[in-house]
Amino acid sequence: MSLAESTASSAASFQMADHRTPLVRNCWYMGALASEVGRTLMVRRVLGTPVLFYRTEAGLPVAMDNRCVHRSFPLDKGRLEGDCVRCGYHGMRFDASGQCVEMPSLRRAPGHAKQRSYPVRERGPVVWIWMGDAAKADDSLIVDLPWLDSDAWRTVSGSAEVDANYVAMHENLLDHTHFPVLHGDAVSTEEYINSVLKVRQEGNKVFMTRELPDSPVAAGFGHIMGIPGRRVDSYSDSCFESPALHVSHSRFVESAPQGEARPFHFNITHVFTPAQQNSIHYWWFFSRDFQLDNPEIDGVLAAGINKAFTEDKDALSWIQAIKDEAVEPLPELSFAPDRPGMLMRSVLLRLANEESKYSANPS
Ligand code: FES
Ligand SMILES: [Fe+2]
Repeated sequence: MSLAESTASSAASFQMADHRTPLVRNCWYMGALASEVGRTLMVRRVLGTPVLFYRTEAGLPVAMDNRCVHRSFPLDKGRLEGDCVRCGYHGMRFDASGQCVEMPSLRRAPGHAKQRSYPVRERGPVVWIWMGDAAKADDSLIVDLPWLDSDAWRTVSGSAEVDANYVAMHENLLDHTHFPVLHGDAVSTEEYINSVLKVRQEGNKVFMTRELPDSPVAAGFGHIMGIPGRRVDSYSDSCFESPALHVSHSRFVESAPQGEARPFHFNITHVFTPAQQNSIHYWWFFSRDFQLDNPEIDGVLAAGINKAFTEDKDALSWIQAIKDEAVEPLPELSFAPDRPGMLMRSVLLRLANEESKYSANPS
């Protein structure tokens, strides 16, 4: 359905997730960069739980609760011994599955003493973690991101901590109408308003495509591609892949090239992991398929992306603060261009309901 065909009145029929909706747990979230997980104990809060990460001597990533089952001592204050972690309080030793294999004050290790451990999978630069029902941790649900691990692409990446709920973060990425207003002319032009937008839902995924033929290239992209001020045909798609992941692909080609037209591609990978209900660990990966060995472009891209993402991060944290401080309900109006985000929010609510039977507007 095109956005023009949808109507604002359809908003009334939507039950949508918001910042109060319980976080979806049955999902592969990013626990860490693969480069962060090593032979040093590392802790990150994931869905409210402090999780301990390390690698076995064979190089496999391990994740378990950072709170010792005996007297709640943080395990990262202990030490790694081979594939085991030893608690720094009374010395219980846990293997990579979380099972206690030694308790210094007892002759035998208590068999029922077991740290909760979590399924983890390493794919390219990402260590994914499953915080929900381990029986549902299906490897096929891990989205393939081959460009992050390919010589045909060059990736610039970064991370940030965002004081906002992941619903708002996902909605921001499915909402291109804020580009020219919040971000200025670096990533869009006034003609973006003429883009043909289409949205579709496939299962739990929401796709939005945008096409804009023969219009001036945005300043930031034009500079990077070496075609400043030229007219381009642009296409992009954005996909809500899961509660943890949003992926977009962009393609630009000169509308009237002198000689053969060379398409330029960008793949942008946004990964979110709620630290708690209203805060997120956010990683971004900005990949391109041209000028792979040009560090100047790396620097320009990183600076431009950081500027835009800081604008998003600030906007979302200001919005979250207003919601946190509210003393009465804060109804929001929705319009036709908000439809992609609304579809995504209905998916998130359904997924949360399936896990917790939470009701959308509990009042
Ligand atoms: S708190 Fe860890 S062994 Fe006692
Ligand atoms: Fe933005």
